[in-house]
Amino acid sequence: MSVEVRRGRREDVLGALRPVFHYFGREPTEESASRVLRVLSPDRIHAAWEGDEIVGGASAFEFQLTIPGSVVPAAGVTVVGVLPTHRRQGVLTQLMRAQLDDIHERGEPLAFLWASEGAIYGRFGYGLAGLSGEIELLRAHSRFTGPVDTEGRFRLLSLEEALDALPPVYDRVASETPGMFGRTSEWWSSRVLDDPEWRRGGAGEMARVVLEREGELLGYALYRLQMGFSDGASTAAVHVIEAIGVTPEALSAIWRHLLDIDWMERTKAWLLPVDHPLFLLLEEPSRMRFRVEESVWLRLVDVAAALRARSWAQEEDIVLAVADSFCPWNEGSYRLDGSTTTEAADLRLDVRDLGAAFLGGFTFWELRRAGRVEELVPGALQRADGAFRTDRAPWCPEIF
Ligand SMILES: CC(C)(COP(=O)(O)OP(=O)(O)OC[C@H]1O[C@@H](n2cnc3c(N)ncnc32)[C@H](O)[C@@H]1OP(=O)(O)O)[C@@H](O)C(=O)NCCC(=O)NCCS
Repeated sequence: MSVEVRRGRREDVLGALRPVFHYFGREPTEESASRVLRVLSPDRIHAAWEGDEIVGGASAFEFQLTIPGSVVPAAGVTVVGVLPTHRRQGVLTQLMRAQLDDIHERGEPLAFLWASEGAIYGRFGYGLAGLSGEIELLRAHSRFTGPVDTEGRFRLLSLEEALDALPPVYDRVASETPGMFGRTSEWWSSRVLDDPEWRRGGAGEMARVVLEREGELLGYALYRLQMGFSDGASTAAVHVIEAIGVTPEALSAIWRHLLDIDWMERTKAWLLPVDHPLFLLLEEPSRMRFRVEESVWLRLVDVAAALRARSWAQEEDIVLAVADSFCPWNEGSYRLDGSTTTEAADLRLDVRDLGAAFLGGFTFWELRRAGRVEELVPGALQRADGAFRTDRAPWCPEIF
């Protein structure tokens, strides 16, 4: 029987979630469906139907994504799944076709996602756009090389206070950090600060601490404490969910605060930017055992619009010849201002590799060393790196 992909309706959400929930090891409930619908518009759901049964689904959040120099609409691809009974029959390919056509028609220049497995999305034009890190640091080895600015005070917030106080702090950092996306108040309440038992991973309730000075909030952290004892000594850990500071001093102070929580033996954190200041703050950086992992994958759905929206570290006259077999409307040669040209290109690459470089997560030289870009004019790699350079690594602090 053939499979047909249709745009979802509100009543299809449970069916469209079922395939991916199968891999989570549970059935979606009415409650899971209504949670999702608080932040997902039903017409962003695509469902793959076989007869009257849904066998696959893919959806997209409507995000505002920070890229170097601006903020653009971007599809946040989520809850992608095909039942194991229908795997490798092209169902995902049909879903991606429908979804990317839809994103293109809506005029969103970018799509991005967290991949469960790195092998899935390259064929659809997504490139790994950045890296993130995971740490585990013993309190006994967490000394900083110098003193931390300790002016200001820390305060634990109630959920209601946090819903009010944290968004503006986050927004200040998100608006200048490529890879971060804007959060609606619904997103804050039903995703970030929602604290059901199943999200705690064996640790305690979410704590919300802010750093304030003269009435101004300079940073915050969301964390959990996990109690533990072994042989009479503490094995307790701080699980850092998110730590944000609006200035370098505030961020250092927030981390010092987290690393100094008494009774804890260690601090664990995930989804940190790879250029985290802890490398330079800690006296013994290797003690944090920084493990590097994949972060988000980015797809330029409209290459011209994406290039137009981005700012450049330096003016360069470069022509990029872009190949895009899955979204052929993008095929062509582009200048950095997004205009197309028939002039000879300086660099030739696939759209997924432009996605890898777009937020500043990988340089063209790195792509070259992996055989992912062709330098047609000597010196073009260096010029492209000069233009694409950013002052910080992309960071997406949250899996969606
Ligand atoms: C990933 C998933 C959606 C793929 O669905 P699918 O319908 O089997 O994919 P398709 O049949 O359209 O595959 C298209 C191509 O991608 C390849 N592919 C698909 N999933 C892959 C995977 N997990 N690893 C490696 N290759 C994969 C297929 O081999 C096929 O390649 P081909 O065109 O060269 O033959 C499905 O396996 C799934 O639901 N996995 C578990 C949930 C999950 O990981 N979701 C993604 C969340 S980010």
